Amino acid sequence: MKKLTVKTEITVFESKKELPEDHQELLKLAHKSVKDAYAPYSKFKVGAALLLENGELIGGSNQENAAYPVCICAERVALSAAASLYPKVPVVAIAVTAKSHRIKIKQPISPCGTCRQFMSEVEDKHQQPFKVIMQGVSGPVYVVDSVKDLLPLSFDASFL
Ligand code: THU
Repeated sequence: MKKLTVKTEITVFESKKELPEDHQELLKLAHKSVKDAYAPYSKFKVGAALLLENGELIGGSNQENAAYPVCICAERVALSAAASLYPKVPVVAIAVTAKSHRIKIKQPISPCGTCRQFMSEVEDKHQQPFKVIMQGVSGPVYVVDSVKDLLPLSFDASFL
């Protein structure tokens, strides 16, 4: 018997001012996109923003539905928009943030499992990892270099 250890490295920035300028701008768009969320059921508004390799910035927000499973997360809204508009252009980074009607979120928001799986396949499709930048309404910013850092032992097309 042996044990495998999975290690994830997260870069922690105490505030967004410490981020490189392009990542600050991306996070700003994620915060702005929160306003476009349609979240009448959870009242939990999520904003995402993508930086593509061609320099384009694309925002997205969660879109809910009375039939709850139909809800789409902000990350997948933004990534699907990018895949439709620029199918061949790799993603360089995604920023994610959220605002709750209940509490002021001071901790970084990390993407749900479904979005991690979705994002992982986007990396595979373009054969290129991308950074995930996470923040609450304010407070520290977490950055990982690849979606795979958030999804160890991920399932992918190689199993099929
Ligand atoms: N949500 C996202 O948009 N992204 C995530 O990664 C986590 C959850 C949304 C889905 C739902 O509209 C609301 O947040 C509450 O779960």
